[in-house]
Amino acid sequence: MIVDQIPQKSCLWLAVECEGRQISTIEGLQNASIQQAFSEKWAFQCGYCTPGFIMNCHALVEAYPEATDVEIENWLQSNICRCTSYQEIKEAIQSVLAEKKN
Ligand code: FES
Repeated sequence: MIVDQIPQKSCLWLAVECEGRQISTIEGLQNASIQQAFSEKWAFQCGYCTPGFIMNCHALVEAYPEATDVEIENWLQSNICRCTSYQEIKEAIQSVLAEKKN
């Protein structure tokens, strides 16, 4: 989830800690460009990690529209995919960043 524009691990937050904060979840990102990019780049396999990755990637493209490859790789270190889709996830991010530049 994203709390006040910062991606957070939702399992570490108590509901009471969210009072008065702006909260975004995967359900709130319907039709976000990063979701479409994940689909187009096949940036998932089993899908277990996908909601967390999409939320984190959404925060990245919103906060850092000029993110470099190294910054993207560093940003993605907070999430784990057991199906090894990292290259496709990176390509999805890069496609959204390129789209934002145009
Ligand atoms: S797509 Fe299976 S764990 Fe990431």
